[in-house]
Amino acid sequence: MIPYCSICWDDNKVRLLDQRLLPQEEVYLEISDYRDMIEAIRTLTIRGAPAIGVAAAMGAALGALELETEDPEEFRQRFADVCREIAQARPTAVNLFWALQRMQAVAEAHAGESVASLKEHLVHEAQVILKEDETINRHLAQHGRPLIKDGYQVLTHCNTGALATGAYGTALGVLRAAWEAGRRFSVWVDETRPLLQGARLTTWELEKIGIPYTLIPDGAAAALMRQQKVNLVIVGADRIAANGDTANKIGTYSLAVLAKFHGVPFFVAAPLSTFDFALPNGNFIPVEERPAEELIRFRGETVAPAETPVLNLAFDITPKELITGIITERGIAWQPLSSSIKYLKDAKD
Ligand code: MRU
Repeated sequence: MIPYCSICWDDNKVRLLDQRLLPQEEVYLEISDYRDMIEAIRTLTIRGAPAIGVAAAMGAALGALELETEDPEEFRQRFADVCREIAQARPTAVNLFWALQRMQAVAEAHAGESVASLKEHLVHEAQVILKEDETINRHLAQHGRPLIKDGYQVLTHCNTGALATGAYGTALGVLRAAWEAGRRFSVWVDETRPLLQGARLTTWELEKIGIPYTLIPDGAAAALMRQQKVNLVIVGADRIAANGDTANKIGTYSLAVLAKFHGVPFFVAAPLSTFDFALPNGNFIPVEERPAEELIRFRGETVAPAETPVLNLAFDITPKELITGIITERGIAWQPLSSSIKYLKDAKD
């Protein structure tokens, strides 16, 4: 049982845990206006690719409930506008666009029905997307679990737990499943600059699960690998191209290079909803650039001169050659990644 939820639907409102305030405060927000959901995604109040997908779907459902018309055709057009607006929230995590497409497909599939019925279908679909995400993550975790052996020291980056998903987690879900199966190991947690998803969120989740962990500065990974203190690296993903190139939190690429140099296996864990099969490789993945403010100040504290020129890329692309395998809900895609990804995509559940 996971004693917190990143996001849930409750009586035509969305309840979400404000991740900006963790770990100091555990505050749940209630959102009933889809514009507030866009803001929540933009400000990382809710974050992590699968959780962003769920938030987008629930935002779309809220937007649908807000539309005041009895004309189904007008409703569907205005619903499409709502989805277009939500799609602007963040550019890299493909789960956001995937979820909105699913919501629009539902509106299309029930085109002949009344507005009241369309609204019901959309609210239902958003909840299905949340439920499915937990099931998918649990399957993914079972596939990844055997990779984690007793005595391992595992390194992870950013936050990929229940907070970053509908529930359970992806990369952290694999660690959770291994722990629940009785494996005993420890985790190096990259702090994950600049927004400290590792220091603030991953430590908080590991503490709750009971897995031993040690927080490290992002720059410490090389030294630890050199001392043979890292047996395996596991991270999540925001978007994976058809050939396996993977966008994830900035700093992931450097970890993968280090892992290759030191002969450490490097795994990505992500559901199939994080794959963008339309993109042949990672060069086509849009990488979000976030405000300079995030590097110049931290929680109101100034840490660099106000006019400092800043490049604040939120993600980087790890080339497929550096990835040992990608853990999905249908199994692990091993090298060569392009063909095994295609195999998993076409496989039946
Ligand atoms: O900017 P964030 O916090 O949304 O970035 C999150 C990540 O990079 C995660 O590793 C990724 O979304 C996978 S979450 C299961």
